[in-house]
Amino acid sequence: MNFNEELRDRVRNAEEVVIRNGVMEEVGYQKTVFAAMNYSLLSGGKRLRPVMMKEAAVLFGEEHPSLGAFMAALEMIHTYSLVHDDLPAMDNDEYRRGKKTTHVVYGEDMAILTGDALLNMAYEVAASSLSLCAGDPVLLDRAVRALQVLTRKAGIFGMVGGQVYDVEAEDKELKLTEDSVLFIFRLKTGALIQAALMTGAILGGASEDEVSIMEQVGEAVGIAFQIQDDILDVTGNPKILGKPVGSDARNHKTTYVTIKGLETAAKDVEAFSEDAIEQLHKLDNRNEFLEELIKFLINRDR
Ligand code: IPE
Ligand code: IPE
Ligand code: MG
Ligand code: MG
Ligand code: MG
Repeated sequence: MNFNEELRDRVRNAEEVVIRNGVMEEVGYQKTVFAAMNYSLLSGGKRLRPVMMKEAAVLFGEEHPSLGAFMAALEMIHTYSLVHDDLPAMDNDEYRRGKKTTHVVYGEDMAILTGDALLNMAYEVAASSLSLCAGDPVLLDRAVRALQVLTRKAGIFGMVGGQVYDVEAEDKELKLTEDSVLFIFRLKTGALIQAALMTGAILGGASEDEVSIMEQVGEAVGIAFQIQDDILDVTGNPKILGKPVGSDARNHKTTYVTIKGLETAAKDVEAFSEDAIEQLHKLDNRNEFLEELIKFLINRDR
């Protein structure tokens, strides 16, 4: 199998896992938000985070009964972050994953609640899966540690924290340095990629040292990913991207591209990705697909 076929297979698997754990029956008085949760979650993102989580687990080799629940939970958290990121009070974008954004279809009030509901459902799914470890203290300990990482990386010390400074800098028109932009990238984008690699590693049986290597890998991949996202906001094709281009310029956002220019930005995507692969080589085990995936993302067009 070549890389593209392998990727397609893994994305399909992640998609199935998300559907199995995340599709809501659209019933009851709150059915509008059930429908909006399904709308945003099932609209076909790249599913990179659950794919990375599984590959990190494979890297350390042991199976864990909670892996599927954690994959779905992380994709739900990521999806909620996008639903809120697109709101008029934040980036005010009308397209996401090739469809109208959740607030355009369901209204701002329902979009806020949809994000809230996805976040809580994520934790419910992940926490409920702990009962699958009953009777096995080693598996239970791994699941508990994975849950701690997932919750921390999603919150104020992670994704939310990055979004706070990203939005505040924009509102107050702060002059951002390269350092503060990297801080934002590390948190708003890096943290959920770290969560993917770290929780996968923990569930797969990694040691503490190995988990902290995965944290470094995730940071570098996350920064590379967000630089490329900033590049695509300038050079991308909205039909392929599934979201508008020029959103950052419209919001007068300081991006990696505005600071460093397109050419240097592209070189730095490569440099951070190479750094990530070097970090991976500190481990005893190898996962060739994961390395290929990191390289593939350097030139992604969506
Ligand atoms: C978009 O993430 C938000 C960023 C962190 C740049 P993705 O590019 O992974 O979005 P989907 O899940 O494929 O829609
Ligand atoms: C957002 O970064 C990252 C999140 C935590 C949602 P962007 O605002 O650049 O993401 P896009 O371009 O809307 O996907
Ligand atoms: Mg944003
Ligand atoms: Mg945005
Ligand atoms: Mg962007």
